[in-house]
Amino acid sequence: MKDSIADHYTHGELLDRIRSGIEGIGKTPETVTVDELAPVDEFHIGGRQASEDFIGQLGLMADDHTLDVGCGIGGTSRFVASRFGCRVTGIDLTPEFVSTGQSLCDWVGLSGLVELHQGDATEMPFADESFDAAFMLHVGMNIADKAGLFAEIHRLIKSDARFGIYDVMQTSDEALTYPVPWSSEPGTSALATQEQYTEALEQAGFEIMNIRDRRDFAADFFAEARRQMEQAGGAPPLGVHIAMGESASIKISNMVDNIAAGRVAPVEIIVIK
Ligand SMILES: C[S@@+](CC[C@H](N)C(=O)[O-])C[C@H]1O[C@@H](n2cnc3c(N)ncnc32)[C@H](O)[C@@H]1O
Repeated sequence: MKDSIADHYTHGELLDRIRSGIEGIGKTPETVTVDELAPVDEFHIGGRQASEDFIGQLGLMADDHTLDVGCGIGGTSRFVASRFGCRVTGIDLTPEFVSTGQSLCDWVGLSGLVELHQGDATEMPFADESFDAAFMLHVGMNIADKAGLFAEIHRLIKSDARFGIYDVMQTSDEALTYPVPWSSEPGTSALATQEQYTEALEQAGFEIMNIRDRRDFAADFFAEARRQMEQAGGAPPLGVHIAMGESASIKISNMVDNIAAGRVAPVEIIVIK
């Protein structure tokens, strides 16, 4: 199952495609900034805007050490390090995402603050209570053992620390149309309802602070992305479609349809240990 998930995300030439994309906006690895990378390295609905809205609820401070669970190519990790000045450790299952993310950290001069590791979020190689906060964006849809995952994050963060989740959650019993960005078929998808998330979080020892449904935000985001593409006559040089490979357009269009049909919705859950 884990190998199939990493295979689903493996692109093959991701760093080269991102390098071509930044050339398309007139930049090089030496001159590109964290903000300019945001359209390609924030692999979740709503991109950078979603990260800003979500991360703002974690109360981060400059001397915090934070954990990005399922960090992908590390877009949110770099955003957090550059915005708050804090250290970020990211971990992700897909080796190519981790190596690509490490190169992007080098490009923007953030390798001193952001460390990315390859590994499984249900068994992380870090000591108990190492982190002041943790966050996870669009990862739970690939992890069936949510109770185990949340118990592991509970182990890693300090008392009174916050943990934020921004995931796509199941909102009806109707079957999804595949492929979607996190899975090509039902066997590697582990969607759960908001109630199943909160139950697993409480079971792990967390207290729920806030829950926010982001369905309307997602609809506005997709409508704006479509408007911009129509105006420009195609996809921009840098966009999240790059990380999704050749089947990006069908994955995105199924995602939009699944949300519009009420089968799934992106939801934020903020909890405290
Ligand atoms: C949709 S991407 C989101 C990446 C990143 N959080 C972001 O928002 O840009 C989902 C990520 O979850 C990672 N993932 C899936 N299952 C995982 C697991 N068991 N442990 C660690 N990472 C996992 C995948 O490798 C992929 O990078």
